[in-house]
Amino acid sequence: MDLKQLNAFIAISTLQSFSAAAKTTGLSQPSLSRLLKQLEGELNVTLIDRYHRPLQLTEAGQFFYDKVRTLLTELDTITSMTKRLAAPSSTLNIGFVPSVLYGLLPDIIATLKLQDPDIEVNLKDISSYQQIEALKSGEIDIGFSRFSHQDPWIQQILLRHERYVVALPKAHPLAHIPEQRLIDLANNRLILYHQTHLPAQIADSSASSKTDGKVITVNTETEPLLHLFAQYGITPFTTTKVSDLQVALGLVAAGEGVTLVPASLQTVRTEQISYQRLIHENVTSPIYLHTLKDFIHPKIPDLLNATYQVYERRGITYRRQQFV
Ligand code: BEZ
Repeated sequence: MDLKQLNAFIAISTLQSFSAAAKTTGLSQPSLSRLLKQLEGELNVTLIDRYHRPLQLTEAGQFFYDKVRTLLTELDTITSMTKRLAAPSSTLNIGFVPSVLYGLLPDIIATLKLQDPDIEVNLKDISSYQQIEALKSGEIDIGFSRFSHQDPWIQQILLRHERYVVALPKAHPLAHIPEQRLIDLANNRLILYHQTHLPAQIADSSASSKTDGKVITVNTETEPLLHLFAQYGITPFTTTKVSDLQVALGLVAAGEGVTLVPASLQTVRTEQISYQRLIHENVTSPIYLHTLKDFIHPKIPDLLNATYQVYERRGITYRRQQFV
């Protein structure tokens, strides 16, 4: 069994067609067919049912496909990491989710450049989950995100928990109330904007509480804002889902509803939006830094230092950590 056979099998199975696989792999259809036959011969198993159009995996083929695809993705990661270890890029490629760009990220980058004027930084707007793939492929060296990731290739540092604030239209009856409670917002339209949901285990970790020996399920909500409400047993009256944070704040500005955003966003559209604190201290959004376990770009310690310097300048409490 060799890589050529495995790659041919993955291409045929993914595209469900010999001709499409021939186009993407650059191999002829007879070559692909021969590689597949060799593989099936070695396994003594039929992997693909040729009589179906589009082509279909057999049950054993589906099992083999899932396992081999994971293996080949890992091999890509290993190859890309080996190349980077041998010759690290001089540019530090940083992935970030948009909400951190409104916060301290520009200040952190400016601090980093002040200390190391020759550093080349490349910033890429990438969602939390895509950052993990981008780290593995080498597209980015480090990622700032709002979600924790458990992945054998990845290590993470929790920088801090940032409090959420309520964003209300200026004309809203609650707009001038300084300390808000989630329960008072429940009758409004809540605007949801997260593209990434919490993994089910995280939602489940607050799922059960014991009362008089009975376990009560309270929160299995994975949408991040609904999860926060559900922690207090609250379900908002109505919700609207939009594509991103900017659109959500645009709708609030237009009087279409209310939302919760990390506190660093409260400088956006202040002519139309009133931002108010919440009384609940644990209604927060974490900020994580992720990088690979086995390859730390040489400039990452400088980036961490710059982050902590910005925290010190702004009086933000933090616990100094390092990647290992
Ligand atoms: C922060 O708000 O803590 C933060 C924002 C962007 C990058 C790093 C940290």
